Amino acid sequence: MAGRIPQDFIDGLTARVDIVEVIDSYEALRKAGREYVARCPFHEEKTPSFTVSPEKQFYHCFGCGAHGTVIGFVMEYCHLDFVDAVHELAHRIGLQVPKTEGGEERARRGGESFDILREAADYFRRQLRDHPQGRLAIDYLKGRGVTGETAAEFGIGYAPAGWDNLSSFMGGKFSAGTLAEAGLLIKRDQGGYYDRFRDRVMFPIRDARGRVIGFGGRVIGNDTPKYLNSPETELFHKGRELYGLYEARSSVKQLERLLVVEGYMDVVMLAQHGVRNAVATLGTATTPQHLERMFRLVPEVIFCFDGDRAGREAAWRALEQALPALRDGWQARFMFLPEGDDPDSLVRKEHKEMFERRVENAITLSTFFYDTLVGRADISSIDGRARLVELARPYLARLAPGVFRQLMVDRLAELSKMNPDTLARMLAGAQRTVQPEARPRNTPGERTVVSLVRKAISHLLRKPVLAQQAGDYKRLIRMDTPGIGLLVEMLDLLRDNPHFTTAIVLEHWREREHAKALARLARDESLVPYEELDREFLDALYCLQLGYVEQQIADLNSRPRDAWNQQDKQELSRLLQEKKDMKQLIIEKSTAV
Ligand code: UTP
Ligand code: MN
Repeated sequence: MAGRIPQDFIDGLTARVDIVEVIDSYEALRKAGREYVARCPFHEEKTPSFTVSPEKQFYHCFGCGAHGTVIGFVMEYCHLDFVDAVHELAHRIGLQVPKTEGGEERARRGGESFDILREAADYFRRQLRDHPQGRLAIDYLKGRGVTGETAAEFGIGYAPAGWDNLSSFMGGKFSAGTLAEAGLLIKRDQGGYYDRFRDRVMFPIRDARGRVIGFGGRVIGNDTPKYLNSPETELFHKGRELYGLYEARSSVKQLERLLVVEGYMDVVMLAQHGVRNAVATLGTATTPQHLERMFRLVPEVIFCFDGDRAGREAAWRALEQALPALRDGWQARFMFLPEGDDPDSLVRKEHKEMFERRVENAITLSTFFYDTLVGRADISSIDGRARLVELARPYLARLAPGVFRQLMVDRLAELSKMNPDTLARMLAGAQRTVQPEARPRNTPGERTVVSLVRKAISHLLRKPVLAQQAGDYKRLIRMDTPGIGLLVEMLDLLRDNPHFTTAIVLEHWREREHAKALARLARDESLVPYEELDREFLDALYCLQLGYVEQQIADLNSRPRDAWNQQDKQELSRLLQEKKDMKQLIIEKSTAV
């Protein structure tokens, strides 16, 4: 729940980060009048219909209907949930997100699991030093050249041999079932549990915020499997996590590229030698989620593979994943290591500079792509060139339209000796065009029937400072028109907080029933020009109240006169006076503002 992070903090954050600056850091924005525009990052388009309003601190795409606040943008764009998006933004401006206290939030986000994994990591680290067998693990690490400093930075530890070390250490505090859910214990068929990690060097795997979410454990001897990883748990998803990403982000201020390697030890040893941008997938192939995560942080990803056949095949699989994820300005490159070496062994042999030269010389995705395909088709013959086009076609079809795709098509034309236009037409014919569904926009007809409440809310949302002019709106509280409660609540909130922007208001309602409706209102520009908002808003507000007064008068009048008492008569004259005042106000305001 958003409520778990104090609303004050969300308010302050939304007020302090500038949506224009944030979005511009992901997608270049161009100023156009009062707003900024860009090609929409959420659907494919040639002309920009994505707008960002600095004043509302709100974005909206007229093409696909996407819209929201800066937090919403980061959630959508970076595929983060609310809490993580808040952390991401807070991090940008150097704010510490206050600790959320207890309850729902923690239960939703893994409950005790984070605590358990943190304690387990601490325990493993201590065993390296304190356990009698820890010495063996230290010797092993030393033998591989790992310094104490590196081991400490990566939180490397040791799980002692035996079936119940961790379970007896943590069993007093957590149930065996919870420990098993966290991936640390395994349930025996005949009942009871035992430690998953035994006599292994332990590598904690951390999430983007540095919290331990799983482990990789390496045998010290020649047992199998060589590496044992945490199972998929509530917190740990191999297809999404990258080993070393947190450490890379913590040690490099501005990451420009990421290097994807295969193993834990590769990441660790590269870091020790000063190559601080390496990450590893966790015994899985690179997934689209991995790519999304990386390209969100850096414009360039370099895949590092063994030079052997298996390495090239793995590289091709990575390429297949990368193709649809690539956007203009994003680069994927590939480097292949000499057979028999991995980054760990190479960087120890050659040191940082040599290794980095190899990185510099990584081939581009398009070179790797066409080299591989040309290897499968003899392009000295017409048949071979036709085959090349057929081989390339399904891949090119998956590329997002743009400069990169054009360059890939141009290159294919060159290799196949085809006329580029003919080729482009051919490819276009084969391509499935997947357009995101455009949401229908409001027709002007619908706009004319919006109720006064809706109008007032919409204007207030567009220009929250209007609340200061609302005067005495107590009358509204007694009305039972749909939406009136929302209007009054907004007025109350904005009365007390004159600096609130549209975005902050939206964040207040994020988790509530009206969230969607409000976001829609913020998105739909009313036909009212900005300069006339004040008058229109007050007009709506007064007309609402006038309507209410008139309704009350009508109610009174509908009762038989002989049933009236003194009080009713006084009431009527009060209402009539009120009606007169309201009318006067409406006349004054509509001319004065
Ligand atoms: P490698 O077998 O290439 O090992 O596995 P490595 O990283 O060079 O390991 P060292 O240098 O012998 O210690 C590469 C990666 O594949 C996963 C691990 O993530 C490992 O780092 N892997 C490997 C497993 O998950 N399980 C295994 O049994 C082996
Ligand atoms: Mn290795």
